[in-house]
Amino acid sequence: MTMDLSDATGALRANAEKPSPLAGASMSARLVIVSNRVPSPRERASQAGGLAVAVRDALRRNGGLWFGWTGEVSEVSTDALKIMSAGKVTYATFDLGKTDHQQFYVGYANSTLWPVLHYRVGLLEYRREDMEGYLRVNERMARSLLPLLGPEDVIWVHDYHLIPLGQILRRMGVRNPIGFFLHTPFPVARVFEALPRHEALLEALASYDLVGFQTDLDLAAFLGCIGDIAKGNIRSDGSFTAYGHTGAGAVFPASIDGDGFARMAKESSLSPEGQRLKESLGGRRLMIGVDRLDYSKGLVNRFLAYDRMLDLRPEHRSKVTFLQVAARSRSDVAQYRLLRRELEQATSRTNGRYAEFDWVPIRYLTRALPRSTIAGFYRLSQVGLVTPLRDGMNLVAKEYVAAQPSEDPGVLVLSRFAGAAREFDAAMLVNPYDLDQMAEMMHRALAMPLEERRDRWVSMMEKLKLHSARSWSRDFLRELHRRASARLAAPAPAVADVPANGAATCGKT
Ligand code: G6P
Repeated sequence: MTMDLSDATGALRANAEKPSPLAGASMSARLVIVSNRVPSPRERASQAGGLAVAVRDALRRNGGLWFGWTGEVSEVSTDALKIMSAGKVTYATFDLGKTDHQQFYVGYANSTLWPVLHYRVGLLEYRREDMEGYLRVNERMARSLLPLLGPEDVIWVHDYHLIPLGQILRRMGVRNPIGFFLHTPFPVARVFEALPRHEALLEALASYDLVGFQTDLDLAAFLGCIGDIAKGNIRSDGSFTAYGHTGAGAVFPASIDGDGFARMAKESSLSPEGQRLKESLGGRRLMIGVDRLDYSKGLVNRFLAYDRMLDLRPEHRSKVTFLQVAARSRSDVAQYRLLRRELEQATSRTNGRYAEFDWVPIRYLTRALPRSTIAGFYRLSQVGLVTPLRDGMNLVAKEYVAAQPSEDPGVLVLSRFAGAAREFDAAMLVNPYDLDQMAEMMHRALAMPLEERRDRWVSMMEKLKLHSARSWSRDFLRELHRRASARLAAPAPAVADVPANGAATCGKT
């Protein structure tokens, strides 16, 4: 256990006057991570999104419990948990039944919430039974988690699948610190309110001790909703009172272990895979993109912009290869299947148009590669393309920068709509809706002189050093401790303060 958590425990113990309602509790502080998907201990974090990468790192350092879905679908949901340990981490996981998987994961989380959070209101699909399934799975998770909790545990809930979980735990009497981190963007009020019953979600978010966001823009959008929709009271330190709860929002940019990633990239570039890639290029330059196959990643626009560059700048034909690794994702959701077809068409159009008997312009893979292999590939490429239409942070941008050799760094072409662009203003920033601009930036990146490449890279490395995977979890947990201590020290609200709908029964002690 790190200093942070032990400190948190001591202070909370001193502040907490009432005994915890939880029975059978352990006496030492423990970090409890709850996320929808829990990769198995042996699973490589290759196709995992940024969440799994960041959380795995926090748990490996601190130890603790990781609770969530196995990723497996069974006939029916059961409350049976699979418990296993690896190193300092205990994994408690469950399978989802078919109906829960459809309504909670495919339906509400990924066909309703995901598009809205990524500003794609046109893709929003809403079915009341999906919303009910979403709440049902959150309730079930809270019920299964409850007996595993001790009074000293610090509970950290992750991402949009589990927004109601903290509120449900409070209703069940849990008084522990409970924080929430949103890995995706948070939309402005006029977009958020397109979500039917959005107020229920806003109220659930308001009942956490702390809600963490990737960027200042996401925090401002959330507080905007608290002010505008909930008519809450917002204070300058990010704390607010809404729906009878006092909570707080703050920014914690997710990051990576830059030094570790750089080492991995260096080693891996010399691995058999790295050498095979290099030989296969035959001296051509390499542009690389690595994403989940998701419409938020702007892949179609990226492919079209590359095609446009080859059209407008014929000097790059036969001289550059674009490697896109797009790990298949959420293929039960219709929009994702559609995207896959669109990308196959875009790839064959460009390859059909420009390929030579000894050169293929786009190499397109829809299977995941190990993270270590990818790290070496980043190092061997001259341009990294990270051009989402909207993204919470995008750790690929950070990994690409960390992987570069200092003496001859590659260039990052980065969407201004990725959270990482708030830090990496030295990247080649693009608007991914502007295909001409992206084509031009790809060309400029390929032509950029060493001195400019180095200047930009040094500036981004400095930013990378400001936030690490370690500081992300440490800062969040410290702030959670501070906010939870304040809650536990505060007098219980007078009965007259409780709104008629009883909302204040969760979150206040
Ligand atoms: C994004 C989300 C995560 C999610 C990951 C992979 O990073 O923020 O919550 O786990 O994508 O998506 P999946 O649907 O496969 O879990």
